[in-house]
Amino acid sequence: MNQIRNIVILTGAGVSAESGIDTFRDAGGLWEQHRVEDVATPEAFARDPELVLRFYDMRREAIQTKQPNAAHHALARLDAEWRGELLIVTQNVDDLHERAGATRVLHMHGEHLNAWCTACDERSPWTGPLLDRPACPECGVAALRPDVVWFGEMPYRMEEIFAALREADLFVSIGTSGAVYPAAGFVRNARELGAATLELNLEPSQGSSWFDESRHGPATEVVPAWVDELLTRK
Ligand code: APR
Repeated sequence: MNQIRNIVILTGAGVSAESGIDTFRDAGGLWEQHRVEDVATPEAFARDPELVLRFYDMRREAIQTKQPNAAHHALARLDAEWRGELLIVTQNVDDLHERAGATRVLHMHGEHLNAWCTACDERSPWTGPLLDRPACPECGVAALRPDVVWFGEMPYRMEEIFAALREADLFVSIGTSGAVYPAAGFVRNARELGAATLELNLEPSQGSSWFDESRHGPATEVVPAWVDELLTRK
C-alpha cells in the first residue's frame, strides 16, 4: 500500500454490531424478525404508516442508548490524523461515527436522528418519536417521515461519493455484506478507477473476491490494527 493519499472508507452494520446494534442479514439480525417490504419501503409506509413509524421510533430510541466502539474510535483517529483526503461513506443510519469524533462522514442511507418533511422537503434534527405525527418545525405541516433511504429509493449524495472514488488511492470496506447496491458495487468502481481495495469484515462478504486484500475478524480488532498500521507507515 504505497503512495496512499486519498482514502474512501465504506462502512456497514458490522462496524456498529459490537456496540449492540443489530445487523440486517446475520442470524438473529433485524431482517430475520421483519420482512423488509413491511418496514423499509415507501409502499410499506403508504400501506401502514403506524407500523413503519413505530419500527423506526424503536430504532431511533435504541441507538441513543448505544456507544461507539473501538472501530468507530479508530476511524475517528484516522480522520483526525490523516493529512490526505478521507471520506467515510456509511450505510449506517446511527450516529456512532460522529459520536466517536469523526467529521468526514457521509450518510448515504440517511440518519435515524433526522426527520424529513415530505411537505416542505426540509430535514430537521429529531430524537423523539414520529408516531404521534408531530408538525414539521420548518413549515408546520404534519408530514414528517424517518430520513432513512428505503428500498426502491435513491441513496444520498452519489455524485460526491463517485467524485471521491475517482480520486481514491485506497478503498476500504468495513462490516458490510456486499448485498445491497449501489454500495456493494463501489469496490468494482474503485478498482476500475485505479484504487487499491481492502476488505475488513467478520467473514468474507458476497463481494470478497473483488478486493485485493481481505482481513477477517471483529471490527473492534481488525479496524484499530489496520489504522495503527496505516498511521505508522505514513
Ligand atoms: N465486525 C465486523 N463485521 C461484522 C461484525 C463485526 N463484529 N458483525 C457482523 N459483521 C459483518 C457481517 O458478517 C456482514 O457481512 O457485517 C456485515 C453486515 O451485513 P448486513 O447486515 O447486510 O449490513 P449492511 O451491509 O450494512 O447492509 C447494507 O442494507 O438493509 C439495508 O439499508 C440497509 O444500510 C443497510 C444495507
